[in-house]
Amino acid sequence: MTVVAVTGKGGTGKTILSALLIHFISQRTTSVLAVDADPDSNLPDALGVAELVEKTLGDIREVFQVSRDEMGSTNKEQWLEGKIYGEAICECDTFDLIVMGRPEGEGCYCYANNLLRGVLRRLMRHYDYIIIDSEAGLEHFSRKTIDSADYIIVVTDMSKKGLATAKRIKELSEELDLGFKDIFLVGNRIANKEAEDVIRRFADEIGMKVLDFLPYDETIAELDLRGEPVINLPETSEYYQKAKKIADMIVELHAESVTK
Ligand SMILES: Nc1ncnc2c1ncn2[C@@H]1O[C@H](COP(=O)(O)OP(=O)(O)OP(=O)(O)O)[C@@H](O)[C@H]1O
Ligand SMILES: [Mg+2]
Repeated sequence: MTVVAVTGKGGTGKTILSALLIHFISQRTTSVLAVDADPDSNLPDALGVAELVEKTLGDIREVFQVSRDEMGSTNKEQWLEGKIYGEAICECDTFDLIVMGRPEGEGCYCYANNLLRGVLRRLMRHYDYIIIDSEAGLEHFSRKTIDSADYIIVVTDMSKKGLATAKRIKELSEELDLGFKDIFLVGNRIANKEAEDVIRRFADEIGMKVLDFLPYDETIAELDLRGEPVINLPETSEYYQKAKKIADMIVELHAESVTK
């Protein structure tokens, strides 16, 4: 099992990159779980599978929260597991998808979250690849709903804020003790060599490896505007080819971890 979390400042291109990574990796294996961990969920749209999503994990947690006192001797973990497998895992053609949904409402959700953590941990073990489209705060990791990641890919644009967020994420991921093997930086919508140099220097300073620089791609913007999935990006696009290369690298890292 190889867990990859894609994160970074808001609007830097996390969802687009996550969607393409899921697309490419799931062309090589069917053992992929896509996780939309952003409360403002849009990974299903980017993948073109939004109509298949029935319920989010958050929806199920809410039902559990209001009905748990009436469950009597029902095994609550099994109940949650059944609901999640039955209603929250969306089986798409070449991958499965789970949407975490909105954060919990008022009240104490510790018990529900503790159970969820166990269910998620077991669920993730069924897959070779888990690709998580996360938000900048690594919320699910901070709360430990998801408690590990092997690789963290931080997406940044050319802004100072994007880089500052990358630094914060690096520090946070170390504090959270996620047991990650590597943390990478990807520059997105990078227009020139100067910007690449600035990002490279910054990455060196904070001890992150730069994976690649992705260009601004008009077709991505057009697809988005038309509400079409980004996986329809033409093969000739430089962004497409570069994202494919990152997906290939993840597959190689996974293969290495399996043979070790
Ligand atoms: N390389 C690119 N070229 C052109 N447009 C891009 C590129 N990358 C991302 N975009 C556009 O930028 C916007 C934000 O991208 P995306 O939704 O992937 O970012 P995000 O980091 O997931 O945002 P959020 O923090 O809101 O979840 C989208 O409209 C997307 O189409
Ligand atoms: Mg997003």
